[in-house]
Amino acid sequence: METRRLVERDPPMKKDDLIVITGAGGFIAGNLARYFKQKGFNNIRAVDKKPLYEWYLHVPGVQNLSLDVSREDNCHRVCEGAVEVYNLAADMGGMGFIERFRVECLRSVLINTHMIEAAYQAGARRYFFSSSACAYNTLLQQDPQVRALKESDAYPAMAERGYGWEKLISEMFCEEYWHERGLKTFIARFHNVYGPHGTWDGGREKAPAAMCRKMIEAMDKNDFRINIWGNGEQTRSFMFIDDCVKGIDLIAHCDDLIATPINLGSSELVSINTLVSKVEKIAGKKLKRRYDLNAPQGVAGRNSDNAFIKKVLGWEPDTPLDKGLAVTYQWIEEQYHNRKAGKRVGIG
Ligand SMILES: NC(=O)c1ccc[n+]([C@@H]2O[C@H](COP(=O)([O-])OP(=O)(O)OC[C@H]3O[C@@H](n4cnc5c(N)ncnc54)[C@H](O)[C@@H]3O)[C@@H](O)[C@H]2O)c1
Repeated sequence: METRRLVERDPPMKKDDLIVITGAGGFIAGNLARYFKQKGFNNIRAVDKKPLYEWYLHVPGVQNLSLDVSREDNCHRVCEGAVEVYNLAADMGGMGFIERFRVECLRSVLINTHMIEAAYQAGARRYFFSSSACAYNTLLQQDPQVRALKESDAYPAMAERGYGWEKLISEMFCEEYWHERGLKTFIARFHNVYGPHGTWDGGREKAPAAMCRKMIEAMDKNDFRINIWGNGEQTRSFMFIDDCVKGIDLIAHCDDLIATPINLGSSELVSINTLVSKVEKIAGKKLKRRYDLNAPQGVAGRNSDNAFIKKVLGWEPDTPLDKGLAVTYQWIEEQYHNRKAGKRVGIG
């Protein structure tokens, strides 16, 4: 039986209330720290297990801690005094990573169980968890002309092995911490996110960054052949990072969404072949495509049904892929040439 709780209104957030963000040496959480800083919050604690020199972004005025939050004692240290906690730390990567390293993905459950308990014990008002479209039933994603996934499609559950199941169980923690203990939790199921300050090489990168890098490499080496994982007909939607951080803020401050998983993704569906064509257009060069049918490809098709987010927030991620991809391409190109010139750059 589900216990219904009264939702008490929070006092307004003050600019010096402590915001804790984990995973902030990585892509999305680093951009989130910058977003909140730009909104005028001046007490932000950013945490990642990576050494500081590997973080993508160092946001001036943000406290950066290099700590492993799969350890309970560190989580208590990190959450002390927190008013809001955004937990985005996870051992993850693109398809090449999550298909090969399922144990690492599953072990992120340590991060999520310790972080939510520490946030609760610290008396945080709000706790945000970054879930994933990989939590959805894979049997609904076997056709490239996929029906977009709506929130109720996670159950009956048949999530992506490893990574997806970990997200589902961690979502469940969020739901029960609200129902049993009254911690306001918020759960967004991200669909592929891309943009500057993310992984673009090294094995954890996702398709948009990988395609941009392959094109930049091709231009650099004057060798215009490209390897594509699968037959290129797989479909996906890709959300630009600016939409992602705005969506996190909107979701985490909407009391109608407490303990309620919601899609945060673009609904612009494209095939991987189309993605490559878009990169070709940006670079002004054509590539000779070779298809590797033995490479990891993930589900055949996946898209975000945005009816719920539009209804509750009156908004959905809407940056066109062409626009976001051009910005991303330019950033990766800069990183590529900096690395080639011997400068230190974060890749993953
Ligand atoms: N990028 C996407 O397309 C996407 C899609 C769905 C869900 N997500 C989720 O969003 C969140 C952020 O993803 P991202 O793309 O920014 O990934 P990312 O790999 O760039 O960032 C994750 C960060 O977490 C850190 N981390 C891992 N284990 C840690 C630990 N034990 N202690 C402290 N830090 C630790 C990593 O060092 C990394 O910097 C993750 O929870 C991910 O599962 C991302």
